[in-house]
Amino acid sequence: MPTQRMSFPPATPLRPYRRAILVGSAHGLGAAMARRLAREGYCLALLDRDAETLERLCAEINAQYGEPLAQPYVHDATHYEEVPALLRRIVADLGGLDLFMYIAGVLLPTTPTTYEFEKDLKMMEVNTLGALAWFNEVAPLFQSARGGQIVGVSSVAGDRGRVGNPGYNASKAALSTYLEALRNRLTRFGVHVLTVKPGFMDTEMLKHSPRTFWVVSPERAADDIYKALRRRKQTIYTLGRWGLVMLIIRHIPSFIFRRLSF
Ligand SMILES: NC(=O)c1ccc[n+]([C@@H]2O[C@H](COP(=O)([O-])OP(=O)(O)OC[C@H]3O[C@@H](n4cnc5c(N)ncnc54)[C@H](OP(=O)(O)O)[C@@H]3O)[C@@H](O)[C@H]2O)c1
Repeated sequence: MPTQRMSFPPATPLRPYRRAILVGSAHGLGAAMARRLAREGYCLALLDRDAETLERLCAEINAQYGEPLAQPYVHDATHYEEVPALLRRIVADLGGLDLFMYIAGVLLPTTPTTYEFEKDLKMMEVNTLGALAWFNEVAPLFQSARGGQIVGVSSVAGDRGRVGNPGYNASKAALSTYLEALRNRLTRFGVHVLTVKPGFMDTEMLKHSPRTFWVVSPERAADDIYKALRRRKQTIYTLGRWGLVMLIIRHIPSFIFRRLSF
């Protein structure tokens, strides 16, 4: 973890920068989201394990906008104990915080007849526990400030337990439920909590999916998320049509659902 103070442009009444933290932003959706938010004038603290890619992304964004809008912070989302001090440091660097996004995720492939605790553990650690470590620090900050936006990237995979990857399903189901509870706590304090449920996105992660359709680019998904942030939506599916599909799938009775190889 670097220790030097990162410099961001100071917010002024004429240039009221919004400030965001993105956990899991070196690749895929996280990188697309960073580019989208930079376009909207956000100052960005970009967190990931991959220092080199993160630094390249920040350099690209800063060269494009001619200001240090993005700064890298190396962080492994499973190093939960780092979170309280790291959050304090980043908020001091940014001069405040308006938006927190947890995007990091892993999908470790398995088959319908194999059982591997190590993989399930890893998916729970990155997809769920890493998020909770951050939410537990960010939520009280926003609660006392009576404002702010929290985004968690879950998945359609969390809407039902399926034969393909129970560990991934469970990690995203837990994240979705936690986000709902967080929203129910924080709405009364003016804090907005958004749950994002992508279908298939054309990223590194998709390489682990055997059958894909309705694949969207991470840029398209980032665009959908930005619009949902502006409109203060509670939950979005990207593509939107997944909302209808998952509404039907959630209502298929268990005795039928378990007969489907789905
Ligand atoms: N792609 C899809 O079809 C799809 C569908 C539904 C939901 N999602 C969700 O969308 C989110 C973004 O995934 P993606 O599609 O953009 O996949 P991706 O390209 O594989 O990106 C995942 C990101 O998470 C980071 N990450 C993984 N483990 C980490 C750790 N321990 N600490 C910090 N960062 C970590 C990765 O960086 P490093 O590898 O460098 O650490 C990477 O930047 C994930 O939560 C995923 O579950 C994806």
